[in-house]
Parts: sequence; structure tokens; C-alpha cells
Amino acid sequence: MRFKDRVVLVTGGGGGIGRTIALLFAGEGAHIVIGDLNIAGGEETVEMIRQKGGQAVFVEANVTRFEDAEKMVAQAVENWGRLDVLINNAGVTRDGLLLRMSEEDWDLVLDINLKGAFLCTKAAIKVMLKQRSGAIVNIASVVGRMGQAGQANYAASKGGLIALTKSVAKEVAGRNIRVNAVAPGFIETQMTHVLSDEVKKAWLERIPLNRAGTMEDVAKVVAFLASDDASYLTGQTIGIDGGMLMSE
Ligand SMILES: NC(=O)c1ccc[n+]([C@@H]2O[C@H](COP(=O)([O-])OP(=O)(O)OC[C@H]3O[C@@H](n4cnc5c(N)ncnc54)[C@H](O)[C@@H]3O)[C@@H](O)[C@H]2O)c1
Repeated sequence: MRFKDRVVLVTGGGGGIGRTIALLFAGEGAHIVIGDLNIAGGEETVEMIRQKGGQAVFVEANVTRFEDAEKMVAQAVENWGRLDVLINNAGVTRDGLLLRMSEEDWDLVLDINLKGAFLCTKAAIKVMLKQRSGAIVNIASVVGRMGQAGQANYAASKGGLIALTKSVAKEVAGRNIRVNAVAPGFIETQMTHVLSDEVKKAWLERIPLNRAGTMEDVAKVVAFLASDDASYLTGQTIGIDGGMLMSE
């Protein structure tokens, strides 16, 4: 029960990795705000938490709009009087080789994955600064560190998210707010379900642990980073990739 009565906001918690993260935090006693564009998915996550005896609320929100970011934070404060943890998880892909990539696909991915995290962080740290405590975990990606053909927009957004993590960590460390990131590799989700067998095989060949990651593999590291167990850790990006990229 590392998060007993702590208040946690998960963007993109209406499915996939975000839902798994929300359920893990709720299972350890946290009260959860789910923000997502997907109303049905978001409400389902809230229902799953309530059925297990937890407390959660859903906010229909687009992370690319600052007023929506403020709305999610306001829900945390109105319901439970504080905000302890922000998980910037909402993210999308629009893959294609650079020459064929439209400006719309570039802008959309950068807007959601990078600007969305900026806006939600801006809204959340207002409350965390007053509390003089908080933890933020950004969901980046291994491709933000190593690049990936066909994912210039996505890799740039995730590389940017890693740099944002370090910069904000330096700005708010003095107020006891920690900011870290995870860089998942090949995780079994809807996002990777659609890949061809050939692409999946190519990924697996590069993974020393010889399997795809699970959403729980990601959620457990995210929870560690947000918990007091990681109280001396800030500005870091932890790879969750089965050893695919071993950085120094
Ligand atoms: N699946 C993987 O292998 C993998 C690997 C590395 C990183 N990631 C990252 O993990 C995160 C979650 O990915 P996932 O696989 O669970 O994806 P997903 O598509 O299952 O979930 C993403 C969620 O974000 C929501 N969302 C999208 N745009 C939004 C917006 N503008 N505002 C609010 N919510 C929005 C979606 O509705 C959805 O519920 C993403 O940031 C992704 O880049 C995934």
C-alpha cells in the first residue's frame, strides 16, 4: 500500500498501459483521476477501480488543451484536496517514412506526446509546488533514445519528452518534486498488436530477454518511480525493454 490516500492523475488511462498503471496504483491505495479522449474506455477504467473498492473519477480531456489539463488537476483537488502523482501516458503513433510523412501527422504526434506532457506538467506542478511534494513519470519510449525508421515524429516526440523530463526535474527538485521517465521497448498492447508478424519477429530478435514486455512490466517500474522507494531519483529515464538498449 505504497500509495495509500495519495492522489494520482493518469492521462490516457482509458485503455492499454495507462489503464494497467491506474489499476496498479489503485490496488496500492491511491485515488485516481483518469483523463482521456476516449469516454467509454475512461469510464470503464473507473468502474474497474470502483469494483475493487477503490476511488476514481473520469475526466473527458484532450491533453493538447491547457484548459483540459487544468480540469483534470482540478478534479484531483476538488475530490481529494491534493495531487501527488502525474503520469503523462497519453500517446499516439502515426508512422511513415519521412518523405511521405504529412505535416499533419508530424504535428499531431508532437502535440499529443510532447506538448500534452508539457501542458499537463504545467497544470500539475502549480499544485505540487504549493504542497512542496510530488512525483511525475513520463512514458517515453526506447525509440526516443535510439531512433526508428518510419517513426521520425514519434521518436522525436519521445526524445523531446526525455529532455523535458530532465529540464523540469532540475527546475522543481528544490521543492521536493521528482520527475522521471520510462522508456518501454516492445510491449504487448493494441499499439503493437497491429504490427505484422515480420515486424514483430524483427523486434524480438533484438531483445536479450527474448520476449515482448507486458503492460504490468511497465506499470511496476512506473509505480516504483512514483513511490518513496525512489526518493533519491530524479531526471532519470529507465529503460523497460528486455535489454534491447543498454545505455551507459
Ligand atoms: N505499446 C508499446 O509497445 C509502447 C512502447 C513504448 C511506449 N509506449 C507509450 O506508452 C503510452 C501508452 O501506450 P499504449 O500502448 O497503452 O497506447 P493506447 O493507444 O492503448 O493508449 C493510449 C491512450 O491515450 C489516449 N489518448 C490519445 N490521445 C489523447 C489525447 N489527445 N488526450 C487524452 N488522451 C489521449 C487514448 O484514447 C488511449 O486511451 C504511450 O505514450 C505510448 O507512446 C507504448
